[in-house]
Amino acid sequence: MRQLVLIIDFGSQYTQLIARRVRELGVYSEIKPFNYSAEKIKEAAPAAIILSGGPSSVWDKDSPGISADLFDLGIPILGICYGMQLIVSALGGSVEKSEKREFGPAEIIIEDSGDLFSRLKVSKTGVWMSHSDKVLTLPQDFEIIAKTNSCPIAAIRNKNKKIYATQFHPEVVHTPHGKEILKNFLFKIADCKKNWTPKSFVQRSIHELKERLQGSRVICGLSGGIDSTVTAALLKETIGKNLHCIFVDTGLLRLNESKDIVQSYKEMELNLKVVNAEKRFLEKLKGVTDPEKKRKIIGREFIKVFDAEAKKVKDAKYLAQGTLYPDIIESVSVKGPSATIKSHHNVGGLPKKMNLKLVEPLKELFKDEVRQAGRQLGVPDEILRRHPFPGPGLGIRIMGEITKQRLEILRQTDWIFIEELKASSIYDDIWQAFSVFVPVKTVGVMGDERTYENVLALRAVTSTDGMTASWARIPYDILERVSVKIINEVKGVNRVVYDVSTKPPSTIEWE
Ligand code: XMP
Repeated sequence: MRQLVLIIDFGSQYTQLIARRVRELGVYSEIKPFNYSAEKIKEAAPAAIILSGGPSSVWDKDSPGISADLFDLGIPILGICYGMQLIVSALGGSVEKSEKREFGPAEIIIEDSGDLFSRLKVSKTGVWMSHSDKVLTLPQDFEIIAKTNSCPIAAIRNKNKKIYATQFHPEVVHTPHGKEILKNFLFKIADCKKNWTPKSFVQRSIHELKERLQGSRVICGLSGGIDSTVTAALLKETIGKNLHCIFVDTGLLRLNESKDIVQSYKEMELNLKVVNAEKRFLEKLKGVTDPEKKRKIIGREFIKVFDAEAKKVKDAKYLAQGTLYPDIIESVSVKGPSATIKSHHNVGGLPKKMNLKLVEPLKELFKDEVRQAGRQLGVPDEILRRHPFPGPGLGIRIMGEITKQRLEILRQTDWIFIEELKASSIYDDIWQAFSVFVPVKTVGVMGDERTYENVLALRAVTSTDGMTASWARIPYDILERVSVKIINEVKGVNRVVYDVSTKPPSTIEWE
């Protein structure tokens, strides 16, 4: 039986990271909001509970709390940062209010090298702190197991009740032994079994999907991206020819993209229908410059084309979608405010309209787990390694009106950029890289002639989930090669710039 570790979210920026770390260690985890009741927790019967950190102070009137019943369930608990302060105040200890923030690296002195700190083989180790309040006195039956010079109560436990807490963050990489500490909590203290692997996920999913679908026909929209492809691979493994895939070529794709994707899908032996809808999309987009209008038009047309094609599949009962775990986590803090800034286009409106039931076989997975499941299912590496590509495609990478000529320019520049990143072996280190057509003309000189052409921007970012991103520190010589090649080879561009904006406050895409 698969075990579950519940992460109770109090708004920490690291909540998702805790869940991922637990899974990396081979135990399935889920995130629930702080107001998830003790009763529901009991029903879920987790093998362990982790209380996340958070921006609140237990002293604030409206700060998120927990029910003391949680501590009587006999389930091992680890509290991190705010989670520790909650445990302490709920069980009768005290927390000192502080306006001063301790943020950054610190060193703990381990007072007890048993359970939580066993196998560390050090008496001191670096940790990452990010807190203002700190624990002043312990609840009954608790003891201190680590301290720092400025924080005399840095880790505590109640060994009998298996309640542990750390003021520091074991889930972040800046706590070098953090993984060991979490491992100790899961396996030494909570007695978890390591049984969450890509293979176990695939086997379990196939079994469950077989039961649920019972040979029904399923429709799946493919985009060439990881999520939809792995969804299709999993369903093909489960229901074979009853899976009907549809790929819409919007005409807003990159150079050779449609051809390559279709080739990969053929190799995967998917039952595939390709719809070439370029003309229709470009006609609808004629003269449109507003980014949100473009997105809406593309989204609407996509649904129309897809719907018409799907109707041709007789007796279809389900629509498969590549929804991932971060899309369905209930906690607002996990998603962040950026999630709703752009109206993202997907086929979400379809099932209602088409009277189909939804099947979302990846909705328990994080992105990196989808990649692993895909590998397990034999999805071509070329697809698993691909950078994310937005539904509206090049349409939101051309500022202003979308024309065939601008699409052509973007296809060439994008190709040059991506090929250079691959040749320099840095493609896989980058979350997303692309070029943006900027319809601003600048003066240049080519040979003896004056030119007056457009600006082309290069954007490359590093990220773990697309919610936040840093601009990629691409070596200058690579940027130079790309720039020279673009200006020499692509007609219509005489200036290349590199985007050095972080998200937030900027976004990854320009529109
Ligand atoms: P932003 O630009 O919001 O992008 O920082 C975050 C991630 O989402 C992708 N993106 C989209 N994906 N439809 C999509 O399917 C959209 O309209 C859309 N806009 C942005 C973007 O490429 C990045 O991976």
